[in-house]
Amino acid sequence: MLLCPVRDCQQPLHREDRRWLCPRSHSFDIARSGYVNLLQPQDRRSKNPGDTAEAVAARRRLHHSGVTAPLLHAIGSLLAPASHDTVLDAGCGDGFYLGSLSLLHGFQATGIDISIPAIDLAARRYPHCHWLVANADRVIPCVGESFSKILSITARMNPPEFRRVLRPGGQLLVAIPSPIDLIELRGPSRDRVGRTIQSFAPLFTLQHQQRATTTAPLDAGAVRDLQHATYRPLQSQPAEAMQVTFSLDLLLFATAP
Ligand SMILES: C[S@@+](CC[C@H](N)C(=O)[O-])C[C@H]1O[C@@H](n2cnc3c(N)ncnc32)[C@H](O)[C@@H]1O
Ligand SMILES: [Zn+2]
Repeated sequence: MLLCPVRDCQQPLHREDRRWLCPRSHSFDIARSGYVNLLQPQDRRSKNPGDTAEAVAARRRLHHSGVTAPLLHAIGSLLAPASHDTVLDAGCGDGFYLGSLSLLHGFQATGIDISIPAIDLAARRYPHCHWLVANADRVIPCVGESFSKILSITARMNPPEFRRVLRPGGQLLVAIPSPIDLIELRGPSRDRVGRTIQSFAPLFTLQHQQRATTTAPLDAGAVRDLQHATYRPLQSQPAEAMQVTFSLDLLLFATAP
């Protein structure tokens, strides 16, 4: 199911005890925590791309505090995965959404993120899933039609590659921050739904759209975590306890015929 990421190779990888190997002998070690790093030097802009260990740890604390549980529930209900599904999460971060959903529904799960600290944390917490370090904006290192469902939660959007690795009739769930997401910290923001739907046409057609919103009282430590886990400018400095809105626009797409 995995493809060799070396430029102009793209042969299938075969698993050996502690590594993945292609027929041309390109080899990729499996880390102690269980992930495999398929990121090639030409596919990264910096030495340590993606979220930092600090940002990933902050996001994990927020997820584990339960504040995003209603969003997880909404994503799970809309995706409605079955145990026979194979699900890819592109830009999976610490693996909270994919790992939690696969524990609940028993499907085969693969998470991709460009950040080693994110994937390492994901692999330690959810060892039953496959975790890959790769650039989801370039070639997704998986055989075509490997997945029946794809998740992209405030993360990567690569329509041609999503289409290639998704089976015909498969579904793609894209979650983007809604205009009221974190409104207490950064004021209202742009509605990105129209632009996002447009960027997936004509490869995907929208099947369903809904907004998932929850509010939670955060203490100063959690607000600080939010400041670390968010790239968009936040207004509250220094962090103080407050009620915060988390809100995602969920877009469910199907492969266009
Ligand atoms: C806002 S976070 C969302 C993480 C996770 N989906 C969640 O909702 O908790 C975006 C993630 O995308 C990752 N990322 C950024 N650029 C990427 C790329 N080109 N390929 C794969 N992942 C990328 C970051 O490292 C980060 O973990
Ligand atoms: Zn190779």
